[in-house]
Amino acid sequence: MNNSVLILDFGSQYTQLIARRVRELNIFCEIHPFNHLPENLDEFSAVILSGSPYSVRSEDALHPDLSQIRGKKPLLAVCYGAQYLAHFNGGSVTPSKIREYGRANLSFIEGNEPLFEGISQGSQVWMSHSDTIKELPTGGICLASTTDVKNASYRIEGEDTYAIQFHPEVSHSIDGKKLLENFLIKIAKIKPTWTSDNFVEMTVKSLKEQVGNEKVVLGLSGGVDSTVTAVLLNKAIGNQLRCIFVNNGLLRKNEFQNVLKQYEGMGLNVKGVNASERFLNALAGKSDPEEKRKIIGRVFIEVFDDEAHKIEDAKWLGQGTIYPDVIESLSVKGPSATIKSHHNVGGLPDFMKLKVVEPLRMLFKDEVRRVGRALGIDDELLGRHPFPGPGLAIRILGDITPEKVSILQEVDAIFINGLKEHGLYDKVWQAGAILLPINSVGVMGDERTYEKVVALRAVESVDGMTADWVDLPYKFLQKISNEIINKVKGVNRVVYDISSKPPATIEWE
Ligand code: XMP
Repeated sequence: MNNSVLILDFGSQYTQLIARRVRELNIFCEIHPFNHLPENLDEFSAVILSGSPYSVRSEDALHPDLSQIRGKKPLLAVCYGAQYLAHFNGGSVTPSKIREYGRANLSFIEGNEPLFEGISQGSQVWMSHSDTIKELPTGGICLASTTDVKNASYRIEGEDTYAIQFHPEVSHSIDGKKLLENFLIKIAKIKPTWTSDNFVEMTVKSLKEQVGNEKVVLGLSGGVDSTVTAVLLNKAIGNQLRCIFVNNGLLRKNEFQNVLKQYEGMGLNVKGVNASERFLNALAGKSDPEEKRKIIGRVFIEVFDDEAHKIEDAKWLGQGTIYPDVIESLSVKGPSATIKSHHNVGGLPDFMKLKVVEPLRMLFKDEVRRVGRALGIDDELLGRHPFPGPGLAIRILGDITPEKVSILQEVDAIFINGLKEHGLYDKVWQAGAILLPINSVGVMGDERTYEKVVALRAVESVDGMTADWVDLPYKFLQKISNEIINKVKGVNRVVYDISSKPPATIEWE
């Protein structure tokens, strides 16, 4: 693909952010480990080198092979990248007197540099480094300094090679996006053609070629990723796509029926499989969280395998893998860590021997939602909170019974509907209720009760890796608590979880 950017990753915590900023400019980019250049390198129009937790001065400094890149393609080196170019090309990098972390202001040395076009003197940038570039590499021309950093940016004479010590991808670098735009559009002359509509058009075309007239099996979960994958595949191959939606008996109240209806309304060829009993029987008496997860995983594979067998001549397995999953499976630490261990093919269920098709594997979550919108999928479905695969099983602490599932479904429905009615649902990243394995004493009328306690949890997050509890209005919590205790038989106490992650995880199990 032309008009796309290669980001070479040196392990910085910000590498994904660089990719997101580039995509926000409607330019496609891919992240590759610094030591694994893609085979189709020719097809990338520019290269960005990321930052790194390593120091170029250390023995284990990461050494990319830039011989096919430098002077041949526009190159932007960020932080470690900038230090790397300097240190190994005639310049020098030394430890900073103080660790330079936080805001700084640029002062430009040269006027009219295309990299800084439209960016004012004094523009705030974000620094995060403990080495500093003392001497520029051969041919280096200093472009900008800050109070503490003399060589905050440089370029190399006679090349489209630029280097910056600060992080343009972080929002505290106020003009960071403008700088990336200048580099990619003005200097590298890339056309910003990466849009949802183009993605849909290109992907539908390539899916048709890839799959031909063969059949694809896909497991739907009710979540955003599998839904968008299905709609995209359906647009490309229509009835050759066969979807399976399994009810594990641990979904939200009425979820199976409602989502199945929605899927049918979207024209998907979907089979709803109610396997609730099979799951609940397998879980009976089990209370260890990991054991519960494993049982659910195993039964799901069994059920899915049974159903997939009923689809004659299926050759492909559709999956809703997205880019963060792909990046996570790569590592800058070398090939041994980048490639997943080979499965024992003989031991896999039959459906896993199918060829895999993953049309969203290059998209970030927000892009999946945008593509979903371009495909005409309902906003309500696209805005759904994440829901764990093991469902309510990991929100019922201890062993699981059908009665407990039903109590929790009622409580959860009151909470989630309440969030929606009070306009709070979209302000929360994820919410749910947890059924605790304890009873507490209460009074109802003149009667003493000894019933279950439920906890409510609502968090704000970006990706689920960290999370803060949400400060829901007391009035709202009061109303929901009353409603739960009045309506759900078997519950006489409601508590609200005010723990952030870390240290508390989002799910209680
Ligand atoms: P934790 O509890 O680890 O959850 O803070 C982070 C995010 O992951 C979801 N989660 C799961 N999703 N299978 C899943 O598909 C699981 O076993 C599982 N455990 C946690 C959780 O809902 C949250 O969004």
